Amino acid sequence: MTPVDSTVHVRLRVNGEDRDVGVPRGTALLGVLRDDLGLTAARYGCGHGACGSCYAMADGRAVATCMMPVEDAIGKELTTVEGLARSGTLHPVQQAFLDEDAMQCGYCTGGMLISAAALLATNPTPTELQIRTALAAHLCRCGVYGRAIRAVQRAAAGLPR
Ligand code: FES
Ligand code: FES
Repeated sequence: MTPVDSTVHVRLRVNGEDRDVGVPRGTALLGVLRDDLGLTAARYGCGHGACGSCYAMADGRAVATCMMPVEDAIGKELTTVEGLARSGTLHPVQQAFLDEDAMQCGYCTGGMLISAAALLATNPTPTELQIRTALAAHLCRCGVYGRAIRAVQRAAAGLPR
């Protein structure tokens, strides 16, 4: 019997570039980002959408890449933490997280940055509740929640009105 080839070849749009990969059908986007494209800022935590460490943006929305089959990412504009900085300048939320020391081990930080950047892209003047809601999907074992909220407020304050 001829073995069935379950490889799927997809073209993804990641951080403004087209990237072609061939992976087993149904592979989670997280695995493709990390293992095939070398974009390791999205991290494996729980693997079932409960921790936020694997987040990336898809068409401007923060999503759990551990839960998204790669086929579902076709045609979407994907942004990882590696794509947040522009022309050597950190994204305002990246700079604000540094300025507020809003990280300890840093494992959760990439996911938080993605959700914060997605929030500010659609709502540049969020309330504290809106920031808390945007970050609610992210578990931080080091407990930087207060600093992370202040960092998003700081980034928002520096955005053009
Ligand atoms: S690894 Fe994706 S949400 Fe935890
Ligand atoms: S800074 Fe360590 S898990 Fe959040």
